[in-house]
Amino acid sequence: MSENKTAVDALVDQMLDQNPRQREPREHERFRGDYPIVVRGLENCFGEQKVHEDLSLEVNRGEILGVVGGSGTGKSVLMRSIIGLQTPSAGDIEVFGRSITDARPDEEIGVRNRWGVLFQGGALFSTLTVGENVEVPLRQFYPEMSTRMREEIARYKVILSGLPEEACSKFPSELSGGMRKRAGLARALALDPELLFLDEPTAGLDPIGAAAFDRLTRELKETLGLTVFLITHDLDTLYEICDRVAVLADRQVIAVGTIPELLETDHPWIDEYFNGPRGRAAQASQARAGG
Ligand SMILES: Nc1ncnc2c1ncn2[C@@H]1O[C@H](COP(=O)(O)OP(=O)(O)OP(=O)(O)O)[C@@H](O)[C@H]1O
Ligand SMILES: [Mg+2]
Repeated sequence: MSENKTAVDALVDQMLDQNPRQREPREHERFRGDYPIVVRGLENCFGEQKVHEDLSLEVNRGEILGVVGGSGTGKSVLMRSIIGLQTPSAGDIEVFGRSITDARPDEEIGVRNRWGVLFQGGALFSTLTVGENVEVPLRQFYPEMSTRMREEIARYKVILSGLPEEACSKFPSELSGGMRKRAGLARALALDPELLFLDEPTAGLDPIGAAAFDRLTRELKETLGLTVFLITHDLDTLYEICDRVAVLADRQVIAVGTIPELLETDHPWIDEYFNGPRGRAAQASQARAGG
């Protein structure tokens, strides 16, 4: 046991030598405000097409916020705006109390390494193994970290995401769709984020795989204290794990609240979505499960 402890101590010492910034106890770095994400008056245009107009949203710390809306309503564009990959034509976005919209893309704002992203479709590097994929953000943000430590952390994240250890040496093309999602999740968790963005994480998974992924998301949120921005079309996911749901329509977030609160609103899209055949089935299954 004591040998293990020494090895761990050595690793931590090495980490601190290489990244003096990390001498700050993690506790003090963590965001303590109420809203890790605040969006105000957001506008996004592509040529003539206005995707968002005066869109506002606050995400509560520690919640899983489900984000729903018809295809093409701008859910992914909203996520890309929040993580600074899409420059809005108007509006302000703050993440952890820092403005994303005022910063230049290359500017050090000290928050880019505090979130993890699972892009729609996975977006894994096909020429890298799963383990190497997870190492990418580590290499990017901690260039001096030793290869051995990077590999160790990557291996741990792969296991944390529910994949067998052997998956580390596999290429994305050798994995099933569900495993690729988990590999993407492992990469999103590489930097111990406080904030996790998931774009359609259960799309294309079989119902059992989707439910397992949902449980994993919930467990990670609870054990790691994450805030999760979860774009989904999956009604079961909304009922099972989301604390609140934000609805995108008409270029804005037209409603945000718990599902019972949303059912109180009388917007036709919300009504159709939750009270249509699929919405009712998800509701019934939730009631059967006693949730
Ligand atoms: N880079 C881009 N250039 C031009 N138009 C874009 C770009 N990215 C998104 N759009 C347009 O913005 C709109 C919103 O796209 P977005 O990908 O956010 O939709 P979404 O709500 O995520 O849909 P889905 O549920 O199908 O994933 C779409 O009409 C899309 O064509
Ligand atoms: Mg999308």
